[in-house]
Amino acid sequence: MIDYIDKIPNNVDLGQDRVLQRALEHWQPAYLSWWNDVGPNESHGFDVYLRTAISVEPDGWAQFGYVKMPEYRWGVFLQPRDPNRLVNFGTHKGEPAWQEVPGEFRSTLRRIIVTQGDTEPASVEQQRMLGLSCPSMYDLRNIFQVNVEEGRHLWAMVYLLHRYFGRDGREEAEALLARRSGDADNPRILGAFNEPTPDWLAFFMFTFFTDRDGKYQLCCLAESGFDPLARTCRFMLTEEAHHMFVGETGVGRIVQRTCEVMKENKISNPSDVRAMGVIDLETLQRYINFHFSVTIDLYGSDVSSNAANYYTSGLKGRFEETKLTDDHLLVDAEYPVSEVIGDRIVTKNVSALTALNERLRDDYIKEVESGLGRWNRIIEKAGIPFRLRLPHKGFHRAIGNFAGHHISPDGVVLTPEQWNAHVAEWMPSKEDYAYVQSLMSGRVVELGKFANWIAPPPRGVNNQPLNFEYVRFN
Ligand SMILES: [Fe+2]
Ligand SMILES: [Fe+2]
Repeated sequence: MIDYIDKIPNNVDLGQDRVLQRALEHWQPAYLSWWNDVGPNESHGFDVYLRTAISVEPDGWAQFGYVKMPEYRWGVFLQPRDPNRLVNFGTHKGEPAWQEVPGEFRSTLRRIIVTQGDTEPASVEQQRMLGLSCPSMYDLRNIFQVNVEEGRHLWAMVYLLHRYFGRDGREEAEALLARRSGDADNPRILGAFNEPTPDWLAFFMFTFFTDRDGKYQLCCLAESGFDPLARTCRFMLTEEAHHMFVGETGVGRIVQRTCEVMKENKISNPSDVRAMGVIDLETLQRYINFHFSVTIDLYGSDVSSNAANYYTSGLKGRFEETKLTDDHLLVDAEYPVSEVIGDRIVTKNVSALTALNERLRDDYIKEVESGLGRWNRIIEKAGIPFRLRLPHKGFHRAIGNFAGHHISPDGVVLTPEQWNAHVAEWMPSKEDYAYVQSLMSGRVVELGKFANWIAPPPRGVNNQPLNFEYVRFN
């Protein structure tokens, strides 16, 4: 169980370590002032029907009730320690998992933790204005749930920094509150976390695509030989699952509503669909192209000696490392990566160690594809011939072997002129954003009401009805 008596809820016996406890208690007001400044806009007095972790056991860890978000019980929750756990890959394979940071990996591990930690407050900042245009009280509650949990993920990383990295760690923890998404002078570390999330379609796409990148990164860190990091990430993954649920069902409900309107009115032309106040499938496709391409950049270069080092050192494993049946060393293994030569995309095998980013990207793409399949089944059921698809992984890339090249969604290498002639068909335009945002000019919060452009979900939160008062505005 989690100790909520302490000022900082935790299951790590924080009270036993006065120095650490004081350091975190010192960081806590800075965190709250960050939340007040750039957390969900004008939400601080609302009572929100949120779930809070009460146990880190896989079954029944959540408790639901009304909470004012600044009073959410953010804290430090790690999955319980397995005393027999080993380092499961790399040159230290077979050694007991590390309970303290090995000196030679100190700066690398700190960098990994800071990079992960930086994404958590970034997404809260990106989403802070969306409460003003929510399509229902149910959705408003869901975005707030996502936001408080991203805040807790920041706590999780800050705990590791304070507990294991001394003064450097404390300074990094402060810097995590100082950077701002999209800020010209002090931006967040990773590109996708500086992009605006201007509307609810972008929010659902973000939680479907970009939170899922979070899942895959956390899965790799959950394999880490540094045991406290592994245990922290395992618990974070239980929260991440909800964020992806919000994204997948959010887009799915938009697809469903659009299809209903198309079918009822026997229309398929995007301008006719828009005239009915719903989002045309072509625009959904362009949002997919954008969010998919900026998210797969987050996996980094296709060939990366850093990725190889992280693995060989035992710091960051592969997705489902311990379920894989190879030697977990990868010294002689190979993996295919693509590159652009002239006007062709060619695939060649490289050392599997240096291709670990690409491998993780491929693992991610497989899961994204099955999500798209579920959206397409909604369209298919409605008898509409349109299908959503993922663009080629070289499309609109800024990092890795495809960066600097123009690749069509079908995977054809284009000249800049050809690209410019078609980019408006493939990427959301100013007009697309303006149209989507025109649908979201105010918030829909009457009990049980949903905006015209999105279908209600099949059920409410925690078995509550759809007309439940998920947020009390006071
Ligand atoms: Fe997160
Ligand atoms: Fe998340």
